[in-house]
Amino acid sequence: MNIAIVGTGYVGLVSGTCFAEVGFDVTCVDIDEKKIDDLRHGIIPIYEPRLDEMVKKNVEAGRLHFSTSLADVIDVVEVVFSAVGTPPDEDGSADLKYVLSVAKTFGENIRKYTILVTKSTVPVGTAAKVKEAVQTALDRRGENIPFDVASNPEFLKEGAAIKDFMSPDRVVIGTESERARTVISRLYKPFMLKDERMIYTDIPSAEMIKYAANSMLATRISFMNDIANLCELVGANVNMVRKGIGTDTRIGKKFLYPGCGYGGSCFPKDVKALIKTAEQNGYRMEVLQAVENVNERQKSILFDKLMRHFNGDLKGRTIALWGLAFKPETDDMREAPSLILIDKISDAGGSVKVYDPVAMNECRRRLGDKVTYCKDMYEAAIDADAIMLVTEWNEFRVPSYAALERIMAEKVILDGRNIYDPDEAAEHGFTYMCIGR
Ligand code: UDX
Repeated sequence: MNIAIVGTGYVGLVSGTCFAEVGFDVTCVDIDEKKIDDLRHGIIPIYEPRLDEMVKKNVEAGRLHFSTSLADVIDVVEVVFSAVGTPPDEDGSADLKYVLSVAKTFGENIRKYTILVTKSTVPVGTAAKVKEAVQTALDRRGENIPFDVASNPEFLKEGAAIKDFMSPDRVVIGTESERARTVISRLYKPFMLKDERMIYTDIPSAEMIKYAANSMLATRISFMNDIANLCELVGANVNMVRKGIGTDTRIGKKFLYPGCGYGGSCFPKDVKALIKTAEQNGYRMEVLQAVENVNERQKSILFDKLMRHFNGDLKGRTIALWGLAFKPETDDMREAPSLILIDKISDAGGSVKVYDPVAMNECRRRLGDKVTYCKDMYEAAIDADAIMLVTEWNEFRVPSYAALERIMAEKVILDGRNIYDPDEAAEHGFTYMCIGR
């Protein structure tokens, strides 16, 4: 089967590459000429483990192509996936201009039955707008060509996106016709032995599932961050509490780790967008509003601890930031706690030295010379008054306390992900602060 995927961002590129990997003929389309040119030369715009080798392999096998024009390929494809961005506009709702522009191009160019599947995370009700945009374009042409729209949300975790796509927990397919459902389900058959992980729904439910899933996960994190903060006040240890509650199979062990706040391209945006959708429908999402407020507060928590430790004065202090990306295995800094921390430390008169295994270029792009860039975690720690661990990369997990003792100005560690053993840090004479222990 031949398919096109519009939008070579994170979702589009991973999906396209994985569909090619299992044998489909895929054209990834993007209006950004430089991006397409780079991709044709094997230059991948994002960091995702294994993606570069898989792109290369499938391009060489002749199954993965790149183009700047959907119109050029639409005649040969049965399905067009739309995986373009939906950036939040000023009031927090998703901006649909790219999604609707793909729908328009689709309507202007199809010549036979084709399916337009939305993969981008879009508010409930968007498929109806997409359908209308396609129909309007067809009407303008005076053509009556059959088509279907469908919703097929993605659940890829950055850093594990290939694995998530190749062996999904579930595939949600929201359609309004049997024909579309059959075609789309064929595309996913290579990724599962049986049909059991395929979930067929109507379109609004498929659109809602994505927001509900991400909001539920964000809720777990904010809830645990709240519990962690309270643990500190009452002398409890959130690690023990986490284990104690996670063994209840109704709660489950995963996604209960407190930290310095969630970030990334999905949780913050989706939580805001769902609050907004509810508002537009005359409903208040009380829980999600609290989830969002707790997360905003949590992103400052390491800074608050730092300020308390240095009696409210950071002038002349140097802070080493270990980790910039919003989580390990990605260079993505969208909504990352590191950005808030760097701002706050700088505003308070402190200087920041940073190191991240892959996000250094991304940080340079965003912050220029606001911080000092270091070649490794130890260089960042030289003459530092404190280390702030913000992203739990594996290489930060077993630091040499002996080396740190020699090079740091003061022996202070703020561990935003609870990866260090408090006793070990104390044995080396470090003041150690973490989250909820
Ligand atoms: C998320 C969803 O998991 C994915 O299904 C969806 O499609 C996109 O959004 P992603 O943003 O890549 O994926 O990151 P994820 O691994 O889910 O982590 C999100 C944030 O939560 C990170 O900032 C992480 O540090 C934080 N987190 C996660 C915690 O603070 N505690 C946890 O227990 C788990």
